[in-house]
This record gives sequence, structure tokens and C-alpha cells, in this order.
Amino acid sequence: MKRGLPSQLRWTKPGSAPRGPGEAFACPPEPRPRTSTGLSVELYGVPKPYQSPPATVNATAVPRLTSYADVKAMFDMFVTTHGIDPSGSPHGTFWAMDYDSFVTGDVPGVDGEKILVEGDADRSNLVRILKGPITFDGRTFEQMPAGGPFLSADMIDALADWINRECPR
Ligand code: HEM
Repeated sequence: MKRGLPSQLRWTKPGSAPRGPGEAFACPPEPRPRTSTGLSVELYGVPKPYQSPPATVNATAVPRLTSYADVKAMFDMFVTTHGIDPSGSPHGTFWAMDYDSFVTGDVPGVDGEKILVEGDADRSNLVRILKGPITFDGRTFEQMPAGGPFLSADMIDALADWINRECPR
């Protein structure tokens, strides 16, 4: 019995000239570039310019926070999902306060510590403390929520973006 593919479907070495009917379509699909660092990659011996992946891969992972209600919802969702109970903390669920107090006021129970600086996430205590411990007036506060788990980088970025956009109401 004759074995193997019919001659029209024979695999053809990439780059070689077709030898018979149908063989021009017999090449396997082009492989994906195997390097992500070089300036070019070789496909079948032919250099092609390397195209870097989109820079904002995670940008859609957490939806943009368009209002204070979105900020509240993100914190509520996070503490509920992870069974975090801030009622034993000095501040409680302070993101439930009204907009003006949140944007201009201090962290309840933590004297003299502003929650945020409108338009400046890098100087905002809330963003800083979600990323790691902060020292304020000689006192060091641990990363929040105390004991973890901690918000993902995407969530913190979304919050920082909201603050940098001057905290849309
Ligand atoms: C600028 C922002 C914040 C400041 C200054 C702050 C400060 C504090 C302080 C001083 C304590 C008590 C001492 C300690 O356990 O370290 C505390 C406890 C705590 N905080 Fe915060 N916090 C902030 C934001 C947050 C946020 C956003 C969450 C939740 C998402 C949170 C959740 C908690 C929890 C769960 C505790 C422990 C409660 C317990 O021991 O029962 N904090 N925080």
C-alpha cells in the first residue's frame, strides 16, 4: 500500500521553489518571532524589523475611574472580596465620606495626614501607602490595608490616574 501524503500535498521546505501542483500552498504558517529584545528577527533567514508589543498591555485590566463613586466602589469591592474589615482601624471605611472631605481632608483618626493631593498622585499619602510603608512626621505607617492583601498595581495606577486628573467628581 502506498503511504504518506499525495504528491500535491507534500510539505515543501520553506523558501524553496514549488516542485509541483499545489506545493506553493504547502508551507507551514510563519512562526512567531522568538525574541522580544533584538532589533530584528529572522524568519526563514529573512530579517524582519522587530515590532515591540503594545506598551499598555494592562491598561484595560482595571476600568478608568471616572468619578468618586468609582473610587468608592473599587475600595468596597476590594475589602469585600478579600474579607478585610477596616472597622478596627483608626480611619474605618473613610472612602465612604463625602467628596470634598475625601479630596481635601485628613485621614480620619490619623491627625494631620492628608488623604491626597489633587493632581499629584506621587505626593498623595493614599497612593503611597497602598504601595508600601510611608513615614510621616517621624511616624512610620505600614502598607495598607494593614496585613494585606494589597491592591494590585493596576488598581493603584487607576487610583493615581484619577488623582492626577484632579479627582473628577
Ligand atoms: C492614607 C491612607 C491610610 C492611612 C494613613 C492609614 C492608617 C492606618 C493606621 C495608622 C492604622 C492602625 C495601625 C496599623 O494597623 O498599622 C491602620 C489600620 C488599618 N488600615 Fe489603614 N490607613 C490608610 C488607608 C487604608 C486603606 C485604603 C485601607 C483599606 C483598603 C486600610 C485598611 C486598614 C486595615 C484593615 C487596618 C487594620 C484594622 C485592624 O487592625 O483591625 N487603610 N491604617
